[in-house]
Amino acid sequence: MAIEFPFELDKFQKEAIYYLEKGESVFVAAHTSAGKTVVAEYAFALASKHCTRAVYTAPIKTISNQKYRDFCGKFDVGLLTGDVSLRPEASCLIMTTEILRSMLYRGADIIRDIEWVIFDEVHYVNDVERGVVWEEVIIMLPRHINIVLLSATVPNTVEFADWIGRTKQKKIHVTGTSKRPVPLEHCLFYSGELYKICERENFLPQGLKAAKDAYKKKNSNAARGGTSSSTGSSAVQGARGQKRETFNRGKQNKHSGPQNFGNYSGTGWGNQSNGGGQNSWSSRRTTWLTLIDKLSKNSLLPAVIFGFSKNQCDKSANSITGTDLTSSSEKSEIRVFCDKAFSRLKGSDRNLPQVVRVQGLLCRGIGVHHAGLLPIVKEVVEMLFCRGVIKVLFSTETFAMGVNAPARTVVFDTLRKFDGKEFRSVLPGEYTQMAGRAGRRGLDKTGTVIVMCRDEIPEENDLKLVITGTPMKLESQFRLTYIMILHLLRVEELKIEDMLKRSFAEFHAQKKLPEQQQLLMRKLAQPKKTIECIKCEPAFEEYYEMHTEAEEHREHITKAVMQSPVAQQFLTPGRVVVVKSQSAQDHLLGVVLKSSSANNKQYILCYFLNLMFQQ
Ligand SMILES: Nc1ncnc2c1ncn2[C@@H]1O[C@H](COP(=O)(O)OP(=O)(O)OP(=O)(O)O)[C@@H](O)[C@H]1O
Ligand SMILES: [Mg+2]
Repeated sequence: MAIEFPFELDKFQKEAIYYLEKGESVFVAAHTSAGKTVVAEYAFALASKHCTRAVYTAPIKTISNQKYRDFCGKFDVGLLTGDVSLRPEASCLIMTTEILRSMLYRGADIIRDIEWVIFDEVHYVNDVERGVVWEEVIIMLPRHINIVLLSATVPNTVEFADWIGRTKQKKIHVTGTSKRPVPLEHCLFYSGELYKICERENFLPQGLKAAKDAYKKKNSNAARGGTSSSTGSSAVQGARGQKRETFNRGKQNKHSGPQNFGNYSGTGWGNQSNGGGQNSWSSRRTTWLTLIDKLSKNSLLPAVIFGFSKNQCDKSANSITGTDLTSSSEKSEIRVFCDKAFSRLKGSDRNLPQVVRVQGLLCRGIGVHHAGLLPIVKEVVEMLFCRGVIKVLFSTETFAMGVNAPARTVVFDTLRKFDGKEFRSVLPGEYTQMAGRAGRRGLDKTGTVIVMCRDEIPEENDLKLVITGTPMKLESQFRLTYIMILHLLRVEELKIEDMLKRSFAEFHAQKKLPEQQQLLMRKLAQPKKTIECIKCEPAFEEYYEMHTEAEEHREHITKAVMQSPVAQQFLTPGRVVVVKSQSAQDHLLGVVLKSSSANNKQYILCYFLNLMFQQ
């Protein structure tokens, strides 16, 4: 073994390592928290042993930063992201996929020494904006480089591996597991109570019914002017009429210390209007306090609370004023850590409103994490969360993927999100990724996932779909981008057409090509039937001959016109021209870039490609 692990490896890990030892590529598709990083580590260890280099790529900086910190003691490691460049000469490099892409286009020297490239979270290929980068990189990687692909469970792993195998002309072994080592329990949080609705992939309709009954009861009480009967007690109503089951894991939260929940009365939802859509910040604050109190009492902290807007996260974190979730020793640990980290900032930067605000929150065990934070602030939050001193982290999806953090509970503020185009429900794959942060292997027996219900209880089908639905297939998001076209103009060996042909989108068409060619040959070999034209005069054959003759005349005329001094006078650089395309099916708009020399009647044109390819 190139490296030893402190635990017995799982079957899929052993299988992947076996292929790596043979110098072969592998695609590992396994559930969140299954231990895919082990395979990446092994590839790093092999590169160190063979005195070659290895590159690990991840789609988000949070993962890159964490992996850099984790691997630092074990390997000779460097980090290259948009924000930092640390030890670029190291033999094991962690970088964003975009940086690897530019190295490949540049033909950087380092590429020659690389033995392994690891793509973590490869299901990111489905990302509409950035997914294309993964395909570009896979297509351009030289054949001598072995590939390790790590992905969440997706339905078409074999198909994806087959595409890479064909593109690289090498076998990509597929392995993985769909078993989650730390099982999840999914609950609804309504009116100060938790209702368990799914356990070990089994949906519990009784739990949902109990939540719906509570909703009805509360609303009928409200209609009659009564108050809620909710007490906010520390119990989970797994099913109506069933014995109440507590969430306690036997031992108290090891991170918990003296905790103070401000002036919160403990009745939670009962303090606010009953589901009438009034969701003011004060009622939201009360709900957060109820929830945090409940989680704390049931030893379910630390928790990550996912929201889908930066503003929402900030406001939620700011709203829970007066809440203190840390002990005095944790407070001093946080202070020392922040002082050391922020001392790297220059003078007045240390007093930036964001730095001061986040520091204040952190000291009380509350964190925020989203793309609007300064890189250093984000990293401090990540590191403190990993140390277990942040008890509640309000985060956007920036924390959803691949971060090995000690979250016992994941909370969904809402199951609707704005995806840049529209408001839509969270997809099963996205839910799984975020929910996967709950219950880390080796730390917890189960993970808890909570969906906040404010004004309504979701329908059974919607919940089933998102919790137990099939994740999305890996699908190509390949498109020609301006950046790609410009880069490819510099790369001699690869043309734009090659890129298109080798993309995952074209894979099926290309796979069927030999079959289609054979079919065509068979058809051509068949005796041709004479078609008798009964309608048109002259006959087809005669029409075809006349058309060909007309085309020849047209070509002669065009040539003569193009070579005439009058035309050349107009065809100067900068002139916009309409060009007949070679297929003669369409006309393209272009600009003359370079005019001909006297004896060579040729022009260099720039076409407006978006007329041909939809950008
Ligand atoms: N065979 C094993 N036995 C016990 N613990 C393991 C084993 N393999 C990995 N782990 C531990 O499980 C935790 C999660 O592993 P890791 O971060 O690699 O998961 P992952 O599959 O990459 O999850 P994600 O999809 O969230 O990225 C780590 O703390 C790791 O040390
Ligand atoms: Mg991972």
